[in-house]
Amino acid sequence: MAAGVRQAPLRIGVAGLGTVGAGLLRLLRDQAGMLEVRCGRELRVVGVSARSKSKDRGVDLSSFEWFDAPEALAASPHIDVFVELIGGEGGAAKASVEAALAAGKHVVTANKALIAHHGASLAAKAEGRGLALNFEAAVAGAIPIVKALRESLSGNTLTRVYGIMNGTTNYILSRMTHEGGDFSAILADAQAIGYAEADPAFDVGGHDAAHKLAILTTLAFGTQISLDSIYIEGIEAITAADIGAADDLGYRIKLLAAAVRTESGIEQRVHPAMVPKTAAIAQVDGVTNCVAVDADHAGGVMLAGPGAGAQATASSVVSDLADIARGLILPPFAVPVAQLKPYQRAQMREHEGGYYIRLSVYDRPGAFAAIATRMAAEGISLESIVQRRTRALGASPDGAGAPTPVIIITHRTMEAAIRRALDAIERDGHVDRPPQMIRIEKL
Ligand code: NAP
Ligand code: HSE
Repeated sequence: MAAGVRQAPLRIGVAGLGTVGAGLLRLLRDQAGMLEVRCGRELRVVGVSARSKSKDRGVDLSSFEWFDAPEALAASPHIDVFVELIGGEGGAAKASVEAALAAGKHVVTANKALIAHHGASLAAKAEGRGLALNFEAAVAGAIPIVKALRESLSGNTLTRVYGIMNGTTNYILSRMTHEGGDFSAILADAQAIGYAEADPAFDVGGHDAAHKLAILTTLAFGTQISLDSIYIEGIEAITAADIGAADDLGYRIKLLAAAVRTESGIEQRVHPAMVPKTAAIAQVDGVTNCVAVDADHAGGVMLAGPGAGAQATASSVVSDLADIARGLILPPFAVPVAQLKPYQRAQMREHEGGYYIRLSVYDRPGAFAAIATRMAAEGISLESIVQRRTRALGASPDGAGAPTPVIIITHRTMEAAIRRALDAIERDGHVDRPPQMIRIEKL
């Protein structure tokens, strides 16, 4: 375009005016002048949609056309870009994104569930029509990891992508570590601030992080999205006792998401992990996320920043809008979906590393020896075994001493061996509840 020729405004429709949607409207309003200069054209919201027209969202909607149905906004001839901030893998989010692509509109979304479940088919539709399907805000809030993988690291072969990809759980674990406090009360705080998903079980159960990991795996390795292949454990079972023991042993507990290229395929996993206090990832506290990649030419690259919240997420939505305003339209997953390679899964049971095990053991003769024998039978070498004193809980029904916590740290070993040993220990009847097992990651 010749210098001095003004481009028409980019006309935007926003569906979903909750935490992120309202944050986006505020950001576009407050940064309008700067964005127009940077993009060479105005980013102009023209239409909006949500369930309630009358709800006070702390932002003036009077200059926007209101749509009761997001699908109608998506197909409106008055918009160029449809921004989906409704959430959920299907329902109105999916229907409206499909309507937008069918009507020839670019799409921006913060919806990781939608992209993890339906990203391939939606990307095929977008590519077929030369449209953008941008989802920077879907992964790790403000961190520009999608752009980094899609564009900045194009010249590299990646072997691992990992990090902390859920703000709500990191906020909960950090506060439990540094302040103590009750899991449910801290989760309620995260919900009140706007960090959590509509159903916070997605955060706490590790599913939100899994959605993000599935997207990053495809961007990093050029493989088809494989959400079902992810091993997922949430933080529901993490107790104050585990956090205290981790602290004593020189670790922090984090909800780790990792995708690793191995000889037998790609391993994708989301689970609590004990990481050394000295590791960079251990310093990532509160709602902050971090994503690290191992790249053959760039080396190790780590990005950190706010992983959730209105402003942080809106920042990434605006980055996607700015790309469209500037005419940068790329295949959503960096390569055309038809060229994504089949996903080959490496089984989680082949994971090899050290383990933290907390057993609640009846205090009676032979219990320790029996546990050590079961470990030895599986070839598991123990780094330490410590009995932690607690208040007396009373004796077991068969007259054995009250259960006391026993903390075991193993050397590197195969996960399958650990699982077999713990199954046997539980069957032997020396413990009063299922063992707690947390993987140790020397990142
Ligand atoms: P939210 O606060 O629950 O807002 C959802 C919005 O969608 C509300 O405005 C709601 O309308 C509207 N909505 C729901 N069903 C609708 C329907 N059938 N038709 C039209 N509008 C409908 O959610 P959020 O936290 O902003 O999250 C939105 C998306 O961003 C999700 O995909 C989420 O995973 C993602 N995300 C969120 C964050 C974060 O920090 N919150 C960060 C990154 C990504 P009413 O207000 O009228 O009820
Ligand atoms: N609920 C998500 C989180 C929002 O806590 O990380 C950001 O994707």
